[in-house]
Amino acid sequence: MKRMILAAALTLAALPARADQVRPLTDPETVKACGECHMAFQPAFLPARSWTSMMGQLSDHFGDNASMAPDKAERIRQVLVAGAADTGGGKAGSKALRGVRSNEVPLRITELPRFQRKHDRIPEREWKRPEVKTKSNCVACHRGADQGSYEDE
Ligand code: HEC
Ligand code: HEC
Repeated sequence: MKRMILAAALTLAALPARADQVRPLTDPETVKACGECHMAFQPAFLPARSWTSMMGQLSDHFGDNASMAPDKAERIRQVLVAGAADTGGGKAGSKALRGVRSNEVPLRITELPRFQRKHDRIPEREWKRPEVKTKSNCVACHRGADQGSYEDE
């Protein structure tokens, strides 16, 4: 627990992301627009091509309509691309991309091989807990997720 608090403090001080930390998303416009329906995921979890693809089809966003003005979508795309796994994502980014082929354009973090490997020992009943509901609800299990902290607890 102490480690978690320390990690969060380091993150807030905007020091370079640690190996077990994912660079937090700080751009206010992106945090607001992409944190409306779920936690605003850190860009380092997906490659640049994925963010570009996702931002080009917001009217059909996993069954929801997340569309916005084109100039806003373009600004947000640029923020996401700048921090993507294969651009500014650092060590966490290259880890996230393990097992992803360069011609693949994954749109779900929860379907990446590394995500699945890291979560494969979690029993079905954990995912079904009412406060979890969906695998993409990172904050239900990782309390520091919105600050980029995914350490084991
Ligand atoms: C109108 C609501 C809404 C908004 C706004 C929204 N999303 Fe989503 N998003 C969803 C839904 C619904 C899902 C599917 C959740 C699930 O299946 O667990 C989703 C899933 C995702 C996933 C995949 C999660 C996984 O399973 O790995 C990513 C990545 C994502 N959204 C990124 C974004 C980004 C980037 C933005 C801002 C441009 C955004 N979302 C804005 C509703 C929204
Ligand atoms: C049902 C609870 C649960 C949910 C929801 C969940 N995780 Fe996890 N996650 C865990 C547990 C437990 C571990 C530790 C697994 C282990 O070490 O064996 C873990 C491990 C991780 C790790 C590896 C940490 C490390 O230091 O190796 C990352 C990264 C991660 N999760 C990211 C995510 C992201 C991103 C989301 C949302 C898209 C998410 N998790 C959703 C429970 C969850």
